Amino acid sequence: EISFFFPKEQTLAVIKPDTSEEHRDEILEEIQAGGFTISQLQETVLSREMAEEFYREHRDKPFFSQLVDYMCRGPCTMLILTKENAVEEWRAMMGPTDPNDAKENAPGSLRARFAKDILENAVHGSSNTEHAQEKIHFLFGEISSGSELINAGDDEE
Ligand code: TYD
Repeated sequence: EISFFFPKEQTLAVIKPDTSEEHRDEILEEIQAGGFTISQLQETVLSREMAEEFYREHRDKPFFSQLVDYMCRGPCTMLILTKENAVEEWRAMMGPTDPNDAKENAPGSLRARFAKDILENAVHGSSNTEHAQEKIHFLFGEISSGSELINAGDDEE
């Protein structure tokens, strides 16, 4: 018997605030139906510092502080997804950054259906495997070492 082995890949997926509370189970079902393995799942309220670090590549952009406000205003669901070609396939499931673009060009995508606008765009996915590994280490490394991240949502502001 001959079988071919295609190496699996990991990506980081984040279901962003509001969407995580409103549509999490539906999205998780779709992820599994799409053939991804959910290797890790963690629901977390990011601290401001964590959100700033997570999106540090965008720190000079005009939308940065709004983006950080959004990312830490409620629970996010962070996922490590495993599948062949996971990075690209999860990006395809998300759809384009701007939901107007998504509605026109990828109407079944998660952003077409759940994003409010280009800022509050429902989901995140790494754009390449290097970024995926870096952000997975950043988020899940912090979480598994028992940092403030775990209970950040219980703190009074
Ligand atoms: P980016 O990495 O360009 O998009 P993606 O999430 O599709 O990889 O941008 C990161 C996030 O920054 C994006 O998900 C939402 C926010 N953003 C804005 O608020 N305004 C913008 O004009 C852009 C490009 C992004």
